[in-house]
Amino acid sequence: MIRVAIIPGDGIGPEVMTGVIPLLDWSRARGRELEWVTFPYGADHFLNTGETLSDRHFADLRDTFDAILFGAVGDTRIPDGRHAEQLLLRLRQGLELHVNFRPCRPFLAIHIPLKDLQPDEIDIEVFRENTEGPYCLRGRTEEELAVDEAVHTARAIRILLATAFEQASGRACPLTLAQKANVLKHGHGLWIRIFKELCADYPSVAAETMHADALLCALVQNPRRFGVIAADNFIGDLTSDLLAGFQGGMGMAPSASWAPHRPFRCNALFEPVHGSAPDIAGTGKANPVGMILSTSLLFRHLGWEEEAARLHQAVGEVLRSGIATPDLAGSATCQEVQRAVAKVLG
Ligand code: IPM
Ligand code: MG
Repeated sequence: MIRVAIIPGDGIGPEVMTGVIPLLDWSRARGRELEWVTFPYGADHFLNTGETLSDRHFADLRDTFDAILFGAVGDTRIPDGRHAEQLLLRLRQGLELHVNFRPCRPFLAIHIPLKDLQPDEIDIEVFRENTEGPYCLRGRTEEELAVDEAVHTARAIRILLATAFEQASGRACPLTLAQKANVLKHGHGLWIRIFKELCADYPSVAAETMHADALLCALVQNPRRFGVIAADNFIGDLTSDLLAGFQGGMGMAPSASWAPHRPFRCNALFEPVHGSAPDIAGTGKANPVGMILSTSLLFRHLGWEEEAARLHQAVGEVLRSGIATPDLAGSATCQEVQRAVAKVLG
């Protein structure tokens, strides 16, 4: 029995998550053995109890579930975002989810803001290291001085890069390492050293390193030439948002995080790339596609290839029929898109 923990979180998180339940029910009706438990962790829980995720609750997630479906986190009542740190970053770090996979495969030409590009000309996958760099949360502020440290370990880099090389070799596409070793000599110097070591293990992969700033410019000018992009946590964050822009915006982009070395029972987390968007929460304007595609990535992770593919296709069918939320210039609500996808699945 696969056990999934559902954490809807804050803002639009609960509304985009609501539409996931019928998808899980659908997989169950097809004979998949799946059960789930929904947890309240998020801003309300934090404000009521003073904690986001206790050690006991974290251990329960880690040891008694197989995967987590995550909505969004962030609330204007907690402006410094400390509850988010204790929740999302803690899960990523505590579960050693070093790999964050963010694919960019646009559905419709009208979603692509670049001219003369068809959806099948863009197939880019970002592999972002998910636990380190400036996200290690070591830093300090003194009166007129602020320091954020960025920590990079060879272990995490190797885990991330090995996964990216494996993917590029399977796809027979180029692999580009985004780095700024011209400035970040230590951290990104280590990334380049390990990248070169792995090049020797994957002679068939067309591997290159690029300065991240130049890479972003080249991505906008000629996205066709890219396949797999590997990056550290911070550059991967920026790159994946740029690529969300190629797919119709933040609401469209899914992500999957996992621990290829499987240190715990719970070794994967699926979340849309977008945030909690408090300004539109409860208005029905949230785009549920990123969350639905993240559920498709969960199915793929579980080895349920057919369910994953059918869910992905159902989203395409709904979008092609013109049913879309206002961020895609449509007039449907979040719920209407969710219902339309469930209906296509039957
Ligand atoms: C993301 C988000 C998060 C990040 C925030 C909410 C901490 O932007 O998943 O990309 O920066 O990783
Ligand atoms: Mg981000």
